[in-house]
Amino acid sequence: MSHRPWHIAPLVALFTILIVVFLVARAKLVPETFGDLGFYRAQALDDVSELEISYAGMDACFDCHDDVFEEKSGSYHDGLSCEVCHGPSAKHVDEPDEFTPTAPRERGYCILCHGYNPSRPSGFPQILPEQHNPGKVCMSCHEPHNPLLPHTPEECSACHRDVANVKQVSHHATLECVTCHDVPDAHRTDPRNEHAEKPIDPSTCAKCHADGADSSEKIPRVDIEEHGGRYLCWDCHYPHYPESK
Ligand code: HEC
Ligand code: HEC
Ligand code: HEC
Ligand code: HEC
Ligand code: HEC
Ligand code: HEC
Ligand code: HEC
Ligand code: HEC
Repeated sequence: MSHRPWHIAPLVALFTILIVVFLVARAKLVPETFGDLGFYRAQALDDVSELEISYAGMDACFDCHDDVFEEKSGSYHDGLSCEVCHGPSAKHVDEPDEFTPTAPRERGYCILCHGYNPSRPSGFPQILPEQHNPGKVCMSCHEPHNPLLPHTPEECSACHRDVANVKQVSHHATLECVTCHDVPDAHRTDPRNEHAEKPIDPSTCAKCHADGADSSEKIPRVDIEEHGGRYLCWDCHYPHYPESK
């Protein structure tokens, strides 16, 4: 008499089935060249090497674009490969006239790396895109191959934006700031030490608005002596937005 416990039988059956399934699966499902060279499909090597190569690598660009290399080397973007920005360019290297790589001129591209993101190291140069010169292409101020920070902006409007914005929609829109202000060049870079002058008497206004002024017919005229009485013109007219009515 056997004294095997009854529940061994189903277990033996289950294991037999599993082993059979395993053997069948191994024979049918394992790819042909698997294991020939190691624990992978040897054919994969050929498959991959047949894929078309799309990246050329940075050295491939040197022959024809050494000027860009020179610009980029030692710059903040030194570590970036050309194709990071210009996309896969192997075709271009083979046939430069047939295929031209794209150049990422749109703002969105630079923002991928430079848009503020708290997970980036705090020293990494980051900007808030919606506040950093919105609407303007990055390249109007930064050179992509050598992105030095532009020196202090020198347009009057860069620092006196409020004045410039008001003037822009006024009757004086077409007047340059320096028509009325005497500004030393150095004021643009060192404004606290190099002062800009403000007009001190009506002669500034008179050269265009005086009755006999030698200026365009369209400019409204007044009698400078009479018109404002003993007040300065800008006691009544804001010079950056003069209104008469
Ligand atoms: C065999 C010479 C040659 C090689 C190598 C070469 N280029 Fe050019 N590349 C040219 C010529 C020629 C032009 C101008 C053709 C044109 O304007 O369509 C050009 C133009 C460009 C432009 C300008 C596109 C534009 O919108 O103005 C970019 C960007 C560029 N190449 C990137 C690369 C990169 C990146 C590599 C390396 C992967 C590279 N090139 C390798 C010859 C070459
Ligand atoms: C940070 C992104 C970036 C990298 C990295 C970069 N470029 Fe450019 N490149 C640009 C942009 C953006 C323009 C378009 C500039 C413009 O229109 O003012 C451009 C323009 C060009 C042009 C057109 C002519 C010119 O000088 O404006 C060539 C050629 C070129 N790049 C080649 C290269 C090569 C070669 C490398 C690698 C040594 C490289 N670039 C690396 C972004 C990049
Ligand atoms: C793939 C990521 C990447 C892209 C795309 C990229 N940059 Fe940069 N940029 C960098 C790195 C990395 C540095 C160097 C940071 C450092 O040295 O701390 C840098 C530095 C700069 C700096 C210098 C900031 C400083 O503190 O002096 C400016 C400006 C800049 N990039 C502008 C641009 C512009 C404009 C574009 C679009 C044409 C652009 N970058 C695209 C990675 C990128
Ligand atoms: C109108 C000119 C102008 C335009 C357009 C402009 N920048 Fe700048 N950028 C500056 C000036 C000036 C500075 C240095 C002063 C400052 O931080 O605001 C600067 C600084 C930077 C810095 C360094 C910030 C830091 O704190 O280190 C980065 C990065 C940068 N810009 C990227 C960009 C990118 C990306 C774009 C396009 C989305 C762009 N800039 C468009 C003028 C400009
Ligand atoms: C880099 C920034 C910057 C630029 C660019 C700049 N200014 Fe100024 N400007 C200032 C600052 C700051 C003051 C205030 C100086 C002070 O408090 O001593 C000032 C003061 C002035 C004043 C007032 C002086 C006063 O006595 O109240 C005038 C007028 C003026 N600027 C005109 C101009 C004109 C016109 C331009 C362009 C040709 C210009 N500025 C460019 C920063 C600038
Ligand atoms: C039509 C002549 C005229 C033009 C053009 C003009 N200004 Fe003025 N500006 C004046 C006069 C006059 C004052 C003195 C106002 C006063 O003292 O109340 C003045 C004052 C200022 C001041 C001192 C602060 C203030 O708001 O009164 C600044 C700053 C200034 N101007 C900057 C500029 C800039 C920047 C531009 C160009 C965008 C400009 N001005 C164009 C005539 C002019
Ligand atoms: C370089 C010439 C020039 C100078 C200097 C000048 N203006 Fe004007 N002004 C104009 C022009 C141009 C108009 C616009 C005429 C038009 O739109 O029909 C104008 C318009 C005006 C108007 C009429 C606005 C209206 O509502 O019709 C007033 C007021 C005025 N200026 C005041 C002044 C004062 C005050 C000064 C001195 C701080 C001054 N202007 C300096 C050229 C000048
Ligand atoms: C006491 C306030 C006051 C002073 C000071 C003053 N104006 Fe006027 N100005 C006015 C008023 C109010 C008007 C509109 C009613 C009118 O045409 O007399 C005017 C109108 C003007 C006009 C428009 C004339 C037209 O035909 O449309 C000009 C130009 C002008 N002023 C220039 C000046 C100049 C230049 C000075 C300095 C010499 C000056 N104003 C000083 C109050 C003043």
